[in-house]
Amino acid sequence: MPTKTANRKSDFFLVEHFRHPDHVSVMEPYPILHYPDPRLRLKTRTVERVDDEIRQIFDRMLLTMHEAPGIGLAAPQVDIQKALIVIDISEKKDQPLFLANPKITAKSGHKTFEEGCLSVPGIYAEVERAENITVTALDYDNNPIEITTDGLLAICIQHEIDHLKGKLFVDYLSRIKQQRIRKKMLKMEKITQTA
Ligand code: NI
Repeated sequence: MPTKTANRKSDFFLVEHFRHPDHVSVMEPYPILHYPDPRLRLKTRTVERVDDEIRQIFDRMLLTMHEAPGIGLAAPQVDIQKALIVIDISEKKDQPLFLANPKITAKSGHKTFEEGCLSVPGIYAEVERAENITVTALDYDNNPIEITTDGLLAICIQHEIDHLKGKLFVDYLSRIKQQRIRKKMLKMEKITQTA
C-alpha cells in the first residue's frame, strides 16, 4: 500500500540497517511490478525458515517500500514468489514489521477503507475487510509470532496477504471499474515507455 502524501525518488543510496548499525552496504530498491502484469497473479511458496538469504530480501523490500513511498509491500510485487510481507505504518518509518508465511487465524467485524497499492499507482478505492484480525507468522529472527490487531494495521496486513495469493485490491471492485483501471494503467505504462 502506498503512503498517501510525499513523493520522492532516487536511484540508489546507502542503507544503514537499523539492526546492524556497523553494517553499511549499497543496496538498490527492487523494481515494482505494475498491474496488470501477470506476474502479480503468481502464487507464493512458504519459506522453510527466515535465514540470512530471506533477511536480505526483507531488507531490500523495506528499502523499496520506503523509497516508493509506501506502508506495505509483498514479495510478489517485486517478482519474488515467496510468502513475505513488509509493513511500516509508523510516522517516522522506524517500526518495520517483517512477516514470513503470514496466516490469518481469526477475524471479525467489517471495516471499509480507501486503499491504494504500489502496484496500481494513483488509484484509490474503498474495500471492505475484516476489522479485527489475528495473524501468525515468522518474524525477522525466525521466531513464530502472533499478532492481534485492528485499524490500519489490520487492513494493511489483509491487503498484503492477498498479494501472496495473487489477489489485488482492484479485484474487489466492479468489472467496469476494473476495466477502467486496467486501461488507465496500460496507457500510463505506454507513456512511461515512450518518455
Ligand atoms: Ni498492494
